[in-house]
This record gives sequence, structure tokens and C-alpha cells, in this order.
Amino acid sequence: MNSAATKARIVAITSGKGGVGKTFVAANLAAALAKRGRRVLVLDADLGLANLDVILNLYPKATLHDVLTGKCGIEDIMLAAPGGFWVLPAASGLVEYSRLTSDVQDDLRRIIDDLSGRYDYLLLDTGAGISDLVLYTASLAEEVLVIATPEPASLADAYATIKVLALMQQRTSLKLVFNQAKDEAEGRKLALQLQQVVDRFVNAQVANAVKLEYLGQIPSDAAVRDAARKRQLLFVREPGAPASQALAALAQALDAPARPGSGR
Ligand SMILES: Nc1ncnc2c1ncn2[C@@H]1O[C@H](COP(=O)(O)OP(=O)(O)OP(=O)(O)O)[C@@H](O)[C@H]1O
Ligand SMILES: [Mg+2]
Repeated sequence: MNSAATKARIVAITSGKGGVGKTFVAANLAAALAKRGRRVLVLDADLGLANLDVILNLYPKATLHDVLTGKCGIEDIMLAAPGGFWVLPAASGLVEYSRLTSDVQDDLRRIIDDLSGRYDYLLLDTGAGISDLVLYTASLAEEVLVIATPEPASLADAYATIKVLALMQQRTSLKLVFNQAKDEAEGRKLALQLQQVVDRFVNAQVANAVKLEYLGQIPSDAAVRDAARKRQLLFVREPGAPASQALAALAQALDAPARPGSGR
């Protein structure tokens, strides 16, 4: 485990396409990392359309919006999640976060800086797309984990996200997880195909080639839907379910003893 003096690994979880499982992965990966003894905080960076609290059955009295508007401090909004990790909830239905102001940028950076000494992992659950807020959130993370499903539209949007992160943030390493894949073979095949497209159309334009680090896949699992309907965390409710086992393997792959390079 990192010592208190060490900085947390900051991992942004993003996707391009919406609804591919970012929030599901962020919450359950956090629980899987916590089970490995890591101190984990998940920040709901979908500032205007948050739902991390919903899937965790949490009822925040205040959110990041209250912190960003100076009404309370970060300690006032921090919640303990089932699964043994911490959550910074955000608000939902706030159109103001569709535009990113420099005040919000500065505050988010400060919040993350302040917290990083106290955790082993800060997971940033972003919204979908390549809005300024999503890209800014990613820029605050040392590591970016891109989630895609095998659907062509999701693959196309994952590619678009990877391209933007390579060109705008000079990323040279991005982590990749396939959600709702058929099996490990399909996950590996899709990762290889995506790398080939990146080699052909992105790596031809950048000084330092982008390498995708395939972390693993999570199967489509009826237990995920059952847990979601009951607002329970899959990893806690059904640790033996195929998707939970896949998440434990992902946590292990992410948490490998050697700290990977910064990806910049
Ligand atoms: N492996 C899986 N098997 C079955 N259902 C899944 C799986 N992964 C995610 N889901 C379901 O897909 C839906 C979308 O998941 P989630 O909200 O995590 O996506 P998201 O990428 O965070 O969406 P958004 O872009 O809106 O933030 C949820 O209902 C979730 O329960
Ligand atoms: Mg989400």
C-alpha cells in the first residue's frame, strides 16, 4: 500500500459513447480495489448529470456543486460507500456544468490535489463524450481508462476519445476495458483491432505513438442488471458472479505491483 506521503494514482474512467458502463465499472472497481486493501475515493465527475450515488443507494445531503459554489467543504459531502470506499457525489440536472468555467477548473484541480495524499486511488467517473468537462477531468488524471463495448458505435466513439486524448493531451498510454464482451478472446481481438486503427490514423500524426494497454473484459451479466435495479453494488451483492470475478481480475491488473509510467 502507498504510504500517506505518496500520491494517489489518479485514474479517469471515460468512454466516448454514453451508457457503456463507466459508472458501473468505477463503483465496482473501487470495491474490488478496496478489497485488495487499497484506500479508494471515487469522484463523480459527471457534474451536471451525476448518478454514482443512485447506483450506490446513497442519499447525499450536499454534493460537489455545494463545494464548487462555496457552500460547504469537501469533508461535508464525502460519503462511505458499501464496498469499503469513499465517494464524492455530484448533482444531477444542473445545466451550468455543460460549460466549463475557469473557476470550476481551478476548484476541481485543487480538490484532487488536496485529496491525493490520503488515498491510494482516486477514480474519476466522467460523463460521456468529449466535452470540455470530460477532457479537463481526464487531464487531471495521470492514467485514463477507456471503456468500450463491442458495439460498432461504442468502438467508434472510443477511438474518437483516444484520438482526442492523444492529440490534445499528448497521451502515449491509455488503458482499455471492454464491457459486455462475449469472452476474453473477443476482448483481446477488439483491443488489437482498435490498436491497429490507432496506429494507422493517430500514430501517423503524433511524435510519440499511443499504446493501448488492454486491461481485460467484463461479460454481460444478468446479475449486473439485478443489482442495479435494487441499487446494490454488484461486487458486494454477488462477489461470485462472472462480472464480479472479471472486476476482481481488472483490479488486480490495474493494481500490479510495479507502478506504470504516467502515460504522458
Ligand atoms: N457487464 C454488464 N452486464 C449487464 N449490464 C451492464 C453491464 N455493465 C453495465 N450494465 C448496465 O448498463 C447500464 C449503463 O451503465 P452505466 O450507467 O454504468 O454507464 P455509463 O457509461 O456510466 O453511462 P453514462 O454515459 O450515462 O454515464 C446500467 O443499467 C448498467 O447496470
Ligand atoms: Mg455514468
